[in-house]
Amino acid sequence: HPNSDYDLDTPIPTSASGLRQGLTSYGDAHFSLFLRKVFIKALGYSEDALSRPIIGIVNTYSSFNPCHANIPQLIEAVKRGVQLNGGLAIDFPTISIHESFSSPTSMFLRNLMSMDTEEMVKAQPCDAVVLIGGCDKTTPAQLMGGISANKPIVHLVTGPMMPGSHKGVRIGACTDCRNNWASFRAGTIDLEDISAINEELAPTAGTCGVMGTASTMACILAALGMMPFKGATAPAVSSARLRIAEETGKLAVQAAATKLKPQQLLTRESFLNAITVLQAIGGSTNAVVHLLAIIGRHPDIAGTITLDTIDEIGRKTPLLVDLKPSGQNYMNDFHNSGGMLALLRRLKPLLHLNAMTVSGRTLGEEIESTPLIPVPQDSPTMCIQPFEKPLYDASSLVVLRGNLAPGSAVMKASASKDRRLLRHKGRAVVFANSADLAMRIDDPNLEVEADSILVLQNIGPVGNPGMPEAGLIPIPRKLAEKGVQDMLRLSDGRMSGTAGGTICLHISPESADPDSVLGIVRTGDIIECDVEQRLLHLELSDEEIQKRIESRKQESGPIGKAAQQNTRGYRGLYMRSVNQAHEGADFDFLTAAGPS
Ligand code: FES
Ligand code: MG
Repeated sequence: HPNSDYDLDTPIPTSASGLRQGLTSYGDAHFSLFLRKVFIKALGYSEDALSRPIIGIVNTYSSFNPCHANIPQLIEAVKRGVQLNGGLAIDFPTISIHESFSSPTSMFLRNLMSMDTEEMVKAQPCDAVVLIGGCDKTTPAQLMGGISANKPIVHLVTGPMMPGSHKGVRIGACTDCRNNWASFRAGTIDLEDISAINEELAPTAGTCGVMGTASTMACILAALGMMPFKGATAPAVSSARLRIAEETGKLAVQAAATKLKPQQLLTRESFLNAITVLQAIGGSTNAVVHLLAIIGRHPDIAGTITLDTIDEIGRKTPLLVDLKPSGQNYMNDFHNSGGMLALLRRLKPLLHLNAMTVSGRTLGEEIESTPLIPVPQDSPTMCIQPFEKPLYDASSLVVLRGNLAPGSAVMKASASKDRRLLRHKGRAVVFANSADLAMRIDDPNLEVEADSILVLQNIGPVGNPGMPEAGLIPIPRKLAEKGVQDMLRLSDGRMSGTAGGTICLHISPESADPDSVLGIVRTGDIIECDVEQRLLHLELSDEEIQKRIESRKQESGPIGKAAQQNTRGYRGLYMRSVNQAHEGADFDFLTAAGPS
């Protein structure tokens, strides 16, 4: 066996090849295998069962995770697929992360989950592994860990939830969570309505039913060739989802035979395809961070694809999928429109069709050979636009730079609610951190106008571990009540993929970095943002900026990483090791390059 440290072919009469992987030797490899068999037999497996390729199934079920509520049925269906095709399926747990039950933030735990996944996949004797995830941070964590472990893997996502309904209007997590909450804040809907809406926003198991991070990552996994096309969109509660799970089991048995590992399978072209899809679906800004972290794990590709690549691809990629928050529809509409297969067919001129997929066929071969029943363009459920009639011409996600963001900043321009703000100059209203924001944003005496620029500092990877999704700064109540729905907002944090507005995120270096420019912005400063020019500019001279940076260093003492040398536990590890958003907010020691 390729992963075996020893030639174990003769002394022990067994054909259980999978069991030979990564044997701990106790100083005697044959005894180790003998012992391993003693214990696996305690689970009731026969020699016959153990002679099959072993397919691990990662179980991320948790009663705290509604996005993963269907995992028990999915595991059963994957096992059926594995065993009908001659493999032995063995499931094992890794941690489960849900967006709402992961204090301080789910992003804080993503790297932990990726370590858990990598180490458990490496540690246990699997010939191939099915990674079942769904909620935002779980699929990126699994792919990061899977690439680093570099055993054959196939992804299966739990699938999107169905939309609910309120007073005859479809609603769904979580774009409508935010819209309705904003209306409640503005006083246009009452307590009775908002309570009824609360019951309907997440009416079934599964991941958020719009083009948030979970859906975006699912589409990216399909574009990368890590799972079947339909796997990206079939509803969590559909029988199609279970058939996809069964097919995933079959694919994993094939992957065990071909031994196609993610570091071989995934090439630069695979990731360029993923970025094209990201732009064409109006995907989540979080996916940008995740993709950079995933790419950073790949020894041959790390560093060759950057934010500039994402911006460049955006310039030639139209937004074709009409889903909230950039558009109007829900994931089940995308599924009923033909899903990823229909989208990839339209995007063919922009794709690298020779990229490989887990099936052992190229993306082009998969697109050609998968049957598609075409949906008429004028059908009411159709939500994929033709190439000639896009929802947004190009550059759904843009990368901004300038003296305020020398590293970079990211904006989902297609989700802007007031397009005039895409080119805007105004007076900064600065909040030092989330607590300061919470305290002052609704203060009737806050000096703020509709054309002010709201700036939130210290919600970056180190400044507020996990980079919370606080980048969607609420419109000050007094302006919301006057009907203001969008303002230009800037921060070093993230925003939910389900949110919309003219929001500039992931500014680096973050405020907690002693050399950050974002960290020295003051209320009253003038800021200019020009998306067409990809510019984020602070109207201050270089000398004044340097002067403020130096005096901040002197006044504040050590900040950021330097202040974390004695912080204990995972939090300490996180704060000392996390890299910036444009590098994926991964731990430096987990990247392919290792700590710098
Ligand atoms: Fe899990 Fe949105 S909360 S996908
Ligand atoms: Mg989310």
